[in-house]
Amino acid sequence: MSEEKLFVVDDIKGSELIGFVLSEASVTEIPISVFSGSPEVSIREEELMIIHDEEHSETPMILGVLRKINRLEPYLRRRVKVGIEEYPEAIDRIEKLSYTNVTMVPLAEILVKDGYIVGINRNVTYVPFPGSKVYRVRRGDIITRLLGATIESSVKPIVVGSHKYSTDVEIPLDPEYIKYHIGVFGATGMGKSRLVKVLVDEIVMKTDYAVIVFDHTGMDFVPFYPDSTVSSLEIELGPLGIADFFRKKLRLSEYYVTYLELFGVEVNKMVEEFRERLREAEDKEEELQRIHGEITSKLQALSKSLGARDDTVRSLGMRMKYFMEPEVIEGMILGRKYTTEQILDLAWEMKKKNRPLVIDLSFEETVEMKRTIIGDIIECCWRWIFEKNFLEAREKRTYVPINIVLVIDEAQNYAWGTGYCKEQIERVAREGRKWRFGLIVASQRLARSIDTDIRANINTIFFSRLSQTTDLGEIQKFADITGIDLSNLSQLMPREFYIAGLMNPLRKPIAIRVREVKEVG
Ligand SMILES: Nc1ncnc2c1ncn2[C@@H]1O[C@H](COP(=O)(O)OP(=O)(O)OP(=O)(O)O)[C@@H](O)[C@H]1O
Ligand SMILES: [Mg+2]
Repeated sequence: MSEEKLFVVDDIKGSELIGFVLSEASVTEIPISVFSGSPEVSIREEELMIIHDEEHSETPMILGVLRKINRLEPYLRRRVKVGIEEYPEAIDRIEKLSYTNVTMVPLAEILVKDGYIVGINRNVTYVPFPGSKVYRVRRGDIITRLLGATIESSVKPIVVGSHKYSTDVEIPLDPEYIKYHIGVFGATGMGKSRLVKVLVDEIVMKTDYAVIVFDHTGMDFVPFYPDSTVSSLEIELGPLGIADFFRKKLRLSEYYVTYLELFGVEVNKMVEEFRERLREAEDKEEELQRIHGEITSKLQALSKSLGARDDTVRSLGMRMKYFMEPEVIEGMILGRKYTTEQILDLAWEMKKKNRPLVIDLSFEETVEMKRTIIGDIIECCWRWIFEKNFLEAREKRTYVPINIVLVIDEAQNYAWGTGYCKEQIERVAREGRKWRFGLIVASQRLARSIDTDIRANINTIFFSRLSQTTDLGEIQKFADITGIDLSNLSQLMPREFYIAGLMNPLRKPIAIRVREVKEVG
């Protein structure tokens, strides 16, 4: 802290006097009366202020945020006839005795010794006396430094933007809590995907995590990382993805799922051999035709052995012939050259270049296939963790973390309902922290969008205006967002989010404006 001694009280509080503390202050709320004139007109909700109790000069200064600005007048009262209702011209002539009250929510104590600033403490226990003065923050950079010093980490803090009003106050975020998972919520267009991009860049740049981003539409991340994007069509599909692909292409109903899942397992086993044969074939077209035939026979034999009627078996053969061209099999199944293990290796390779690995999911034909890709990659991560940590004899085992963060934007497609992908995501949410295996999920909604077991394990959240107002209540169930209600959210513009939770050094929700992401192309 010795470096911080350089700053004196006046550096931080400056001379812009805004108001004074009224009676009934507590550690959670401090009522303030605002001086007339410029202070009264210029204050805004969410602005940062400093209270200094100058009569007790060694007491801490209080850093807080203004909420519930209230304009008052002793005679122009609500619900009372004030006497000028019948005389519109009188409204300009009467003398108005307006004044403004506002509530300050204390965020932290700034510790003072001999007139110098010596530290910051997010547990506010000092309550300023009535009459204490309220100042606009003069040098936000000092607050940034004080907050940064509270983060006990060897790595640099993550910074995604500045305080909404005090642009010189950057809110440093604690990278230690990335593995406790991050959620980003807000209505469409509020800037979730851009915020996630900023987070991703910070994480790959400043921490030892590699990042894998699943781009649902191929439009939010792919354009920013052309050199570190892999199309999911290049990644092997697991049995479930193969099953779903055939079901869709062959236009089969749910009724066929049992056949197809087993068929998916069989095809999955044969893929490598098919690829090999295609590579070596003199006449590729002919070989592909042969493979198509073998796959058809496999499907028919399998369904027959499971008790399908003869006409069903025949119909499957005809569907393969009419709806599944050999080239489609090649492109959608055999052309996938990366194993999921290789995808992990690629992610670590990109990490060395300070880049995330982006998986472009936009070309998959069904959402189920996208889910399978994500589920398979997560499963591969768990296999990696198992192999590195549990295969050795117990006494020889050393702890090997995986150091990966997965980004699931448009998470309503993946983190809700039932099934393989959602279960894999849930497992990361529940157990990932032990292995430094983190999640970033972003979605417009919470209810019917992010499973409650996943939510319960998200410990840092960014939230903006919500498309479903009841979602604020959903957030309250798993995060401490005391003091924020719908009226606070309605004041947010695109790019503005509240951040709450463990990564926020203040722990109490605070409004930030995300730094600018330049468009590309
Ligand atoms: N940090 C930022 N810097 C620059 N522009 C931004 C930023 N955040 C948002 N925008 C602008 O707002 C638009 C919408 O942002 P974004 O795509 O991130 O929203 P979203 O919340 O992910 O929406 P959706 O729910 O529809 O996916 C962007 O195309 C961009 O023009
Ligand atoms: Mg988006």
